[in-house]
Amino acid sequence: MKQLTFLALSSLVSAQAAGYSQCGGSGYSGPTTCASGWTCQYQNEWYSQCVQSAAGGTTLTTKPSTSTTTAKSTATTTKATTTAANPSATSFATTNGLQFEIDGKTSYFAGSNSYWIGFLTNNDDVDLVFDHMDEAGLRILRVWGFNDVNTVPSAGTVYYQLLKDGTATINTGADGLQRLDYVVASAEARNVKLIINFVNNWSDYGGMAAYVTAFGGSQTSWYTNTAAQTAYQAYIKAVVSRYKDSPAVFAWELANEPRCKGCDVSILYNWIKTTSAYIKSLDSKHMVAIGDEGFGLDTGSDGSYPYSYGEGLNFTMNLAYSTP
Ligand SMILES: *[C@@H]1O[C@H](CO)[C@@H](O)[C@H](O)[C@H]1NC(C)=O
Ligand SMILES: *[C@@H]1O[C@H](CO)[C@@H](O)[C@H](O)[C@H]1NC(C)=O
Repeated sequence: MKQLTFLALSSLVSAQAAGYSQCGGSGYSGPTTCASGWTCQYQNEWYSQCVQSAAGGTTLTTKPSTSTTTAKSTATTTKATTTAANPSATSFATTNGLQFEIDGKTSYFAGSNSYWIGFLTNNDDVDLVFDHMDEAGLRILRVWGFNDVNTVPSAGTVYYQLLKDGTATINTGADGLQRLDYVVASAEARNVKLIINFVNNWSDYGGMAAYVTAFGGSQTSWYTNTAAQTAYQAYIKAVVSRYKDSPAVFAWELANEPRCKGCDVSILYNWIKTTSAYIKSLDSKHMVAIGDEGFGLDTGSDGSYPYSYGEGLNFTMNLAYSTP
């Protein structure tokens, strides 16, 4: 008798999936309804998950057919309203000792890079990236917050800033910063955190070379060129103002791999000081990172390239600076 009761109970329990458990997906044969207070939400062809009903996600208690048409329309209905397994944001990300703190949790967090996500023109594609990150347990994504050009590209190609003949024009249109707006909104919906970078050392997506074309000088004088720095700071202000209240921002990053070949290390140090203080004057709440590669180590040096100062960086000195 006892055994029968137990069997009956366990089959009752397993008839409903618990919170955050799988409840559907291709090849899945477990329960497809969720415990009371939870709703089965479609994530992708292979995975549906029980999310809190109050979250307002799309209800889908049965696995969608695997035909392309159904999968497509289902993906459309889940966009932007998706609530991920991640807890909702309660505070801005910060440091805690030698680790980071996200929503009260102190840890090392896994993350990834996607320079291209803000250049996508389809919202569903952006959502898909964050859905996959969420499934993989990745909390932080580093993205390009810049896309500089010297001539306006053909229609439908995203760019954020036009640098031409000594003038900088920020593109806040549908093919401009509105694409980055969507990245931030989609990250917010899934509580993924973003590292947003402001300029490239390299010429991909414009970078310092695009400033040099518009304002003169060279890549190494970029850091001290008044016209270039004025435009760079105006661009930083435009981006920071848009997202400074967003919990989706993990940190701002000054540049991608800033280098100043053959320069005295004081050049980059002073630029790091000035720029990070400027960002903090616009937004004192989010973290600011350099975006460098760690060149110029004083301790444990074996004299090889990464330890050297030839790229104009003194890691020890740069890291010691604490932005007010
Ligand atoms: C980036 O830095 C390297 C090393 O200092 C330099 O050689 C290169 O020209 C820089 N990139 C651009 C686009 O100027
Ligand atoms: C780098 O910075 C540290 C700390 O300020 C200093 O002690 C060291 O001498 C510097 N090294 C070079 C090569 O600039």
